[in-house]
Amino acid sequence: MLRPGMCLLVGALLAAFLGEAAGTTTCFAGNATYPACSDDTACAGGSCTASVGCYCVDPITQCLPSSNVTCDSSTTPCCPEGLYWFPNQTCCSEELNCDPACVTGKETCGYADGDAVCQCNNTAYLHANRSRIAPTVDCRGDVMTVSISKCLLERFQYSASNMHLLENNRTECSGPSYVDIVNNERILFKQVPLQNGWCGTTFSVQGEKVTYTNALYIPPDFDLPIIISSALNMSFSCTYNMTMQTSLQTVLHPLIGTVTLPAINGTGTAQAIMAAYTNDAFTIPYQVGDELTVGSPVYIGIMTTFTDGDNFTLRAERCVAAPSNASYDTTGVPLITDGCALNQDVNAQYVSNGETLEVRFKMDTFVFQDMPEVYIRCDVRLCKKQTPDVCKCSSSRAGRSGGATASLSIGPLDLSVSIDVNSGSSTVVSSLAVLWSSLLVLLSLRLF
Ligand SMILES: *[C@@H]1O[C@H](CO)[C@@H](O)[C@H](O)[C@H]1NC(C)=O
Ligand SMILES: *[C@@H]1O[C@H](CO)[C@@H](O)[C@H](O)[C@H]1NC(C)=O
Ligand SMILES: *[C@@H]1O[C@H](CO)[C@@H](O)[C@H](O)[C@H]1NC(C)=O
Ligand SMILES: *[C@@H]1O[C@H](CO)[C@@H](O)[C@H](O)[C@H]1NC(C)=O
Ligand SMILES: *[C@@H]1O[C@H](CO)[C@@H](O)[C@H](O)[C@H]1NC(C)=O
Ligand SMILES: *[C@@H]1O[C@H](CO)[C@@H](O)[C@H](O)[C@H]1NC(C)=O
Ligand SMILES: *[C@@H]1O[C@H](CO)[C@@H](O)[C@H](O)[C@H]1NC(C)=O
Ligand SMILES: *[C@@H]1O[C@H](CO)[C@@H](O)[C@H](O)[C@H]1NC(C)=O
Ligand SMILES: *[C@@H]1O[C@H](CO)[C@@H](O)[C@H](O)[C@H]1NC(C)=O
Ligand SMILES: *[C@@H]1O[C@H](CO)[C@@H](O)[C@H](O)[C@H]1NC(C)=O
Repeated sequence: MLRPGMCLLVGALLAAFLGEAAGTTTCFAGNATYPACSDDTACAGGSCTASVGCYCVDPITQCLPSSNVTCDSSTTPCCPEGLYWFPNQTCCSEELNCDPACVTGKETCGYADGDAVCQCNNTAYLHANRSRIAPTVDCRGDVMTVSISKCLLERFQYSASNMHLLENNRTECSGPSYVDIVNNERILFKQVPLQNGWCGTTFSVQGEKVTYTNALYIPPDFDLPIIISSALNMSFSCTYNMTMQTSLQTVLHPLIGTVTLPAINGTGTAQAIMAAYTNDAFTIPYQVGDELTVGSPVYIGIMTTFTDGDNFTLRAERCVAAPSNASYDTTGVPLITDGCALNQDVNAQYVSNGETLEVRFKMDTFVFQDMPEVYIRCDVRLCKKQTPDVCKCSSSRAGRSGGATASLSIGPLDLSVSIDVNSGSSTVVSSLAVLWSSLLVLLSLRLF
């Protein structure tokens, strides 16, 4: 029988051989302090546990994972101190290794605080121009994101961890929000929700545009003996159109259209989405193939990804139903006009309009004669809250700032008309035919 020491020696030679064959690194084979987790003699029941690490069945002896006893280095410290994880070889080695890998050319794998970490390659940034620090801002309806190169900041001896926004009175105001590698460069991202007052964010409305502004302040590293840079303080802003433009996603799965709010001083967008629901809680979306019985209620919700609900509401100015995507202007039947539901030819009632960032209304299902489909298009806008309340139904268009709106549409609501002969009574709303088009006859069937 082989002595344990012999086993280890053979293992070490084998591992060394495999390591050389792969042309990468020499796996550490294990010793009395750190046996292999899969070694049933020296380490019974070894395993790796997320956030804890790899231990034998006793919770004291650290062990070495391998392909037999796997370790996920994204959640688990895989190797004991002084050894580094090589994910490609699923082993620990005495050779320094950064996992995840460092940015090629721009970073080197170094040793700091007992761990292998990516450090900026000073040679690569030595002749960098300070103007290259130029941060960028990305604008979305819910968040502004400023991005900036970590190594360029370090090159000019800025203290990225001490960066903060205009006001610094909560923990989220300071430090980067997250770090990622973009275009072969490690980038720090600072995210600022679109919310008036958050770490000093303010907004201003000019005409049909709203602009959110904040500033990012990055101090130099005062721990260094020589300070070569003044503090960076740059303001950034995201501007959004308050009116929305037409765009329609693939209409059928499910019935959701999308509009885009173009942004300036950034590349981002906010979106508004219209969906049809079958219940009055607006929670069960209408699916393609669902039967909508004429006369039964259908619930329409319009939401936006724009998040500053303290200062803005979403208001549907006008909604029109039509038998085809192209006929809103000719054969369309208005559901909402000037922000108010028209309970006229078609029974439409708004549940909420201009009160929150969601518009809700209800209508009784109807069909156009000989046309199985119904499309709905809405003109929606962000409405700035003010006193007196100008966003709700009762206020006229003239009372609000600006006039233009853009559209959002949905459809087709594919109506598999099922008419219950016993309980249904059909009413031809003839006035509509006269009013809107000689071709159109609106058939409204009510079930009592
Ligand atoms: C085992 O290897 C580790 C890492 O190289 C080392 O720190 C430790 O002293 C070794 N233990 C023995 C008993 O050789
Ligand atoms: C590890 O594997 C990945 C993909 O499988 C490869 O891109 C990378 O170069 C490998 N790293 C080493 C050090 O072999
Ligand atoms: C560091 O940058 C220099 C200059 O670009 C380059 O020659 C060198 O290979 C880089 N070092 C590493 C480890 O990538
Ligand atoms: C840095 O870039 C700016 C603008 O591109 C340029 O005007 C300046 O001369 C550059 N400075 C150096 C030292 O190259
Ligand atoms: C931060 O300061 C602003 C203005 O000074 C204030 O409105 C806000 O409530 C403060 N936030 C916190 C979390 O203290
Ligand atoms: C940064 O600039 C803004 C104006 O853009 C100013 O209000 C703020 O006080 C400045 N912050 C610092 C720390 O200088
Ligand atoms: C804002 O919307 C209006 C109309 O919807 C459009 O004409 C204008 O070009 C948009 N502005 C920007 C900056 O996209
Ligand atoms: C961003 O908008 C402000 C105010 O409208 C303007 O002064 C500034 O030049 C703009 N910046 C860019 C990069 O377009
Ligand atoms: C935004 O809304 C908050 C909360 O209702 C209010 O205190 C603040 O004055 C509003 N800001 C503007 C610029 O209207
Ligand atoms: C409706 O018309 C618009 C504009 O012409 C188009 O972008 C959209 O794809 C159409 N939708 C359907 C369902 O045909």
